[in-house]
Amino acid sequence: MTEQTHTKRVFSGIKPSGGLTLGNYLGAIKRFVDTQDSGVETLYCVVDLHAITVWQDPAQLRYATRELVAAYVAAGLDPAKSILFNQSQVSAHAELGWLFNCVARMGWMNRMTQFKDKAGKNAEKVSLGLYAYPSLMAADILVYHATHVPVGEDQKQHVELTRDIAAKFNNDFGVPGFFPMPEPVIEGPATRVMNLRDATKKMSKSGESDMERINMTDDAETIAKKFKKARTDPDGIPGEVKGLDGRPEARNLVDIYAALSAQSVEAVVAEYAGAGWGAFKPALAELAVAKLAPISTEMARLMQAPDELDRILGQGAERAAAIATPNLHKAYDIVGFVRSR
Ligand code: TYM
Repeated sequence: MTEQTHTKRVFSGIKPSGGLTLGNYLGAIKRFVDTQDSGVETLYCVVDLHAITVWQDPAQLRYATRELVAAYVAAGLDPAKSILFNQSQVSAHAELGWLFNCVARMGWMNRMTQFKDKAGKNAEKVSLGLYAYPSLMAADILVYHATHVPVGEDQKQHVELTRDIAAKFNNDFGVPGFFPMPEPVIEGPATRVMNLRDATKKMSKSGESDMERINMTDDAETIAKKFKKARTDPDGIPGEVKGLDGRPEARNLVDIYAALSAQSVEAVVAEYAGAGWGAFKPALAELAVAKLAPISTEMARLMQAPDELDRILGQGAERAAAIATPNLHKAYDIVGFVRSR
């Protein structure tokens, strides 16, 4: 088989594991919306198969799946432009994931930092699915022959592993270029939004205290309170960006401001040079409320119409399967599976 060129196609996904943070919004959802009108095919998935690698209450999983598609739409993704769907409705993900379980090596999985972080000292007790997680993620991306994957910094290693799996498959079966080498797209000031109480950790939906994160559904008062209580240092906003070096808490708040206002960090520092936190934090809270409140209001409205959300997911799944299934069948043929036609 000769080398193939792949047209640009964007794929990304978010786990419906309950609660969406400002990190998910700035690191992922907002950037999905920004790519939507680039003239490229875009697929944004609710990765429910990935969610169940750790225990999910079934009723909550259903709720979180609908809430995530509501967030996609409320933030500005248009189901007529982007393909919005949930992973379990397109069986090709799980099927290609199995092929990749047989391509990826144990040693590769053992190096995954997210697995090590999540499993901790409990590696013997976590699910097999949690261990195989990155191989399914590779299938999500490669079943569409996607070339670009917008993600936050924490997913970089998984996208790199996806490239290793693609390269090994292409090489083992002598099909150069069959799977593309997808690029992680990690751009902008908020690819790693940090915990408001401890800026050495990323902001995450699973952190212990609610005060350490902003949720997309927090009300104005809660957002103001959380920023007010966010940890900072005694110095205020410096005169230049270099003045944020070695100050992770300060850097985080300025990055968040920059991402929310679609400005560079330089521009924010120039605007607030010399200001104290007493002035900056309320301005940041006001900006966050101005951006998030319309989205959470619209999410709440959409959640009143679950049938409509399910319809969006169903139609998206049909369009996604129309791309994924032929690609899966080509991979089956390459591997040597007999398919009765
Ligand atoms: P998940 O559900 O943990 O997070 C979804 C997206 O949000 C980004 N993100 C952040 N960005 C900046 N700062 C933060 N504090 C922050 N927290 C989360 C994540 O980087 C991610 O882009 N494995 C993926 C889901 C997935 C996927 C895929 C992604 C499954 N298959 C295929 C891309 C392509 C995950 O757990 O994301």
